[in-house]
Amino acid sequence: MVLIKTHITSSSILEITISRPEALNALSSEVLNGLSKIIQEAYHDTTVKGIILTGEGEKAFVAGADIKELSELSKEQAFEMAQKGQTLFKMIEDSPKPVVAAINGFALGGGCELAMACHMRIATENAKFGQPEVNLGIIPGYGGTQRLAQLVGRGKALELILTGDLITAAEAKSLGLVNHVVANREELMTLATKIVTKIISKGPVAVAYAIKSVNAGFGFEDKGYHTEATLFADCTTTQDFKEGTSAFVEKRPANFTGK
Ligand code: CAA
Repeated sequence: MVLIKTHITSSSILEITISRPEALNALSSEVLNGLSKIIQEAYHDTTVKGIILTGEGEKAFVAGADIKELSELSKEQAFEMAQKGQTLFKMIEDSPKPVVAAINGFALGGGCELAMACHMRIATENAKFGQPEVNLGIIPGYGGTQRLAQLVGRGKALELILTGDLITAAEAKSLGLVNHVVANREELMTLATKIVTKIISKGPVAVAYAIKSVNAGFGFEDKGYHTEATLFADCTTTQDFKEGTSAFVEKRPANFTGK
């Protein structure tokens, strides 16, 4: 089954579509590995000038890490998974070629984190954003605790991460989490293409250096990412994590005990 679709447009833009609509395009390890390979190849492919990342269908961009897969992981595997996701998202953030997220629906957990790693975010008005990991007895693991605070400020980031609340595209725009909101999927791809086309008409070295300079102010070496991966993995050893993920699979509210 094809989990990620790619298409190069006539203007040298690589469109990457995460395609697991039956699981709201959740990031299974297979999807993560596939995306990593595609992004690495795109960096070296001189015919690719810019990238648009989107999700299949009208409902979801990406609804997070795959919860069913996550629920089976040991602490060591969870740490490894967080680091793998963090490394991929850092690679996207540091791409010398512009990467725009075209958000066509739910961007939750790892999906919001993926969108935040892109250089810009454009969303349809039905899109919803959030870091709802606390509902599962876990914390964000793919850089959400760091990038959300960078984009919307620490106070609002903490509110979203601690409550697990979802926000609309309009709210996300007012917070600076999203650059533009459009009516529908067609307008989404049109605007994303227009913006990437404009950027790739500029000097590629200047574009790459501008990305590098902006990112230099937000050091990856910061212990925040390592702390996040460590505590993400620690959460998987708790009864609350077992309860939270079981409750999701069984489609019922979780009953947390703090153990
Ligand atoms: N992982 C695996 N499967 C998922 C999924 C996910 N993240 N999100 C949705 N699905 C599956 C559902 O289990 C369901 O499958 P079945 O039909 O087999 O039951 C299917 O996609 C459709 O989802 P729903 O029936 O739940 O659709 P809905 O419209 O009722 O609700 C939703 C939509 C609010 C987005 C809900 O699906 C939801 O809350 N999803 C989980 C969001 C979430 O918690 N994301 C964080 C994941 S953890 C993470 O990402 C950690 C990290 O930082 C790395």
